[in-house]
Amino acid sequence: MADRYDFGLVGLGVMGRNFILNVADNGFTAFGNDLDAEKVAALIEEGGDTQKVNATTDAKTFVAALSTPRKIMLLVPAGKIVDAVIESLLPLLDKEDIIIDGGNSFFTDTDRREAYLAEKGIHFFGAGVSGGAKGARLGPSIMPGGNQEAYQHVKPIFEAVAAKYNGEPCVAYLGPKSAGNYVKMVHNGIEYGLMQLTSEIYDLLKKAGEYSNEELHTTFSNWNAGRLQSFLVEITSEIFEQKDNLGDGYLVDKILDKAKQKGTGKWTSQNAMDLGIPVPSIDIAVSMREISALKEERRQADKLYDRPIVEAINKTELEKMAEEALYFSFIVTYAQGLHQLADASKEYGYDVDIATIAKIWRAGCIIRAALLADITEAFKTDSKLPNLLLSPTFVEKVQSTVGSARALVSYAAKSGIPLPGLSNSLTYFDAYTSTRLPLNLIQAQRDYFGSHTYERLDREGVFHTEWDD
Ligand code: 6PG
Repeated sequence: MADRYDFGLVGLGVMGRNFILNVADNGFTAFGNDLDAEKVAALIEEGGDTQKVNATTDAKTFVAALSTPRKIMLLVPAGKIVDAVIESLLPLLDKEDIIIDGGNSFFTDTDRREAYLAEKGIHFFGAGVSGGAKGARLGPSIMPGGNQEAYQHVKPIFEAVAAKYNGEPCVAYLGPKSAGNYVKMVHNGIEYGLMQLTSEIYDLLKKAGEYSNEELHTTFSNWNAGRLQSFLVEITSEIFEQKDNLGDGYLVDKILDKAKQKGTGKWTSQNAMDLGIPVPSIDIAVSMREISALKEERRQADKLYDRPIVEAINKTELEKMAEEALYFSFIVTYAQGLHQLADASKEYGYDVDIATIAKIWRAGCIIRAALLADITEAFKTDSKLPNLLLSPTFVEKVQSTVGSARALVSYAAKSGIPLPGLSNSLTYFDAYTSTRLPLNLIQAQRDYFGSHTYERLDREGVFHTEWDD
């Protein structure tokens, strides 16, 4: 056993095991803890050298093995388990020790835990980790929030293990309290939006262009070589290549079309509503997972209604428009998520820098994309930018692609192909870029039936009219 280990990790599931091995690969000694003896044994075996990587089922041995201030990361399922692990560690810790929750905890839970532990002199970090099992092993994007001074102890380890973009680590101190968890939550909301958009374009190419899986693979790989370059487009192209190992044909065609969710996308939408920030591209992605779950009802309804005939369309044109529409709607989805983050930062006192967030999303995380380099630059140029759509560098990118979004939304509506993510993105864009919206009428209606008053365009003050006099 080494003298004292640099880093501790509770929860040796696949994420935890991979994270700890990543820490060790980067020259730090690490100690793991899990109640499951098999997981402990598996880590010790994989670590190879107990001077570098060790593990135990016993919390006391675990805590005693760590150098102070202790840096203990939890990679356990979000919810009550996090509280239970904290309670079990608490009597064993010293003041100034640091607990880092690496899971997708709800941000108000993180605030509660941070305040509770601060009273006891323990620092608590909510640090979202993105990149899945592979990311945890080879370099995730890490989104930490908490006490800035305490972060200095964690920083060298996180910077070593994080993914690198042009040599820069994809981790940064984001702000106090739950800033890190909040940023990870919105990351996941954007992830839901991008996944929904990708699945719609797949549906469109299949139904309108009769694309085979081979063609889909080629198209998505070509797109991934251009401005749409991103982890999600890349894995999508690979998914279309995967043959079914349990039968003939391709695996993607055999997968039940009901998408599960753990809740982070829904939390993003719910909190955006609380803040009063519109994120319809994320909202609809959550709704679509819910509609997908209604498989039996969908089957019944499908029999009751006629579907229009899919109109003929030139395949080359379709593919060009699909690429443009996907690019347009990706931009609009990032714009909404970042708008929410900017507002939440003010509301909750995170004081996050949006350019820093975009910067640490450029590699390692699920929503990494070439676009994020441009987004980083836009917010570096103007850190107070309320919305990406207001960035002069994005006007041309959006202007040159929105036409294809319009053409495909109207084509798909006539052909009965649902493109809810794309049409919500387009509608959001059209509304956000309209000086005048018809909500004057809503104000008149509110005043008519409820005397709720209205303001006027041409003079100051609050007005009420007796409409039915
Ligand atoms: C990541 C992912 C990760 C997880 C999602 C899946 O950034 O690495 O977002 O956190 O895979 O929580 O979420 P759903 O189960 O809700 O799709």
